[in-house]
Amino acid sequence: MDTFTWGIIGPGNIATEFAHDLDLIKTARHRVGAVLSHNLDKAAAFARKEDAPQYFSAINDFTNQAHIDAVYIATPHPLHYSETLHCLQHRMPVLCEKPLAMNSRQAKEMVEAAAQHQTFLMEGMWIRFLPSIGKLLSLIESNTIGKIISVKADMSYKAPYDPGSRYFNPVLGGGSLLDLGIYPVFLTHLLLGKPATIQATARLSDKQIDEACAAVLSYHNGSYAFIESSLVTETARKATIYGETGSIHIGTPWNEKPSGIRVTSYEGGEQQYPCAWEGHGLQYEAEEVYRCVRQHKLYSNKHCHRFSLDVMDTLDAIRRQTGIVYPADKILR
Ligand SMILES: NC(=O)c1ccc[n+]([C@@H]2O[C@H](COP(=O)([O-])OP(=O)(O)OC[C@H]3O[C@@H](n4cnc5c(N)ncnc54)[C@H](OP(=O)(O)O)[C@@H]3O)[C@@H](O)[C@H]2O)c1
Repeated sequence: MDTFTWGIIGPGNIATEFAHDLDLIKTARHRVGAVLSHNLDKAAAFARKEDAPQYFSAINDFTNQAHIDAVYIATPHPLHYSETLHCLQHRMPVLCEKPLAMNSRQAKEMVEAAAQHQTFLMEGMWIRFLPSIGKLLSLIESNTIGKIISVKADMSYKAPYDPGSRYFNPVLGGGSLLDLGIYPVFLTHLLLGKPATIQATARLSDKQIDEACAAVLSYHNGSYAFIESSLVTETARKATIYGETGSIHIGTPWNEKPSGIRVTSYEGGEQQYPCAWEGHGLQYEAEEVYRCVRQHKLYSNKHCHRFSLDVMDTLDAIRRQTGIVYPADKILR
């Protein structure tokens, strides 16, 4: 069986889940081969737990010495840009956590670097590869609810208030939109494409990042979407797609392992589809990276660069309207 070796940058919460989910993959053997942390002891501890032979505390050592097939970047958002560029320059295929970058300009540069260095890059929008999203797309494609008229989706996590945490600290990319709102934005792009107009509002903290955010998106064909994200309230965490003949409802939490998918016809009748898989679900995006890298592709057709850039444009537009500003934006100016 083929063995695919991952490097991990940022051995935090999601990297721990990722490493766990790699063990669930049956089509090839996926292992962690190298770990980079700011703290060598932490890198060593993660490497020991994952049976990884290499660990580092400096990115130059990591990119020069790690023997890996691809790297998973799982640091706070503001680090995605510089770490991705560094890895691409060393021709390491990159799976970079969402959001791909802090803003469109950074994301564009990252995509250009992937082309320049002929190296694979994909944003870790893991839900694109979940069986639940696959089922949703097949229901839409088979015309189960007719043409889509509107989409309603929200995502929240009532984070314990800590001004230094990555949820509330602008230096670490705090705010609900980039961390959670990106999921409803992703869903609307997947189903309706790029919006024609956006009307957004946000509850800003004294640090000019959004504790909560909401937007109405409108499309040239007359469709529209309502989206919301929050770090300070608990919202429904559901997604509903309303079509001409019925609706599709993805249960809580719609962007993780939902309670199920329900299709309702306006004329009566209901169909339920269960959603179940092992682990968190990160194994599906890892398998996509494996397939792409083995086929020498520079991007995934399922979650391509153009899609990530379009989503980033929408996030930028919402930020412009609501006044969400990050130090990372100023550095670029
Ligand atoms: N796909 C998903 O379901 C999902 C879920 C949660 C988060 N995410 C994304 O993954 C990224 C990381 O989230 P997380 O929840 O895993 O964060 P986390 O637990 O705080 O881990 C982030 C890691 O980044 C490293 N890091 C480097 N510089 C840092 C700094 N200045 N401050 C804090 N940590 C720093 C830390 O490792 P060292 O100190 O050891 O270097 C830390 O372990 C975010 O971009 C987030 O959007 C994705």
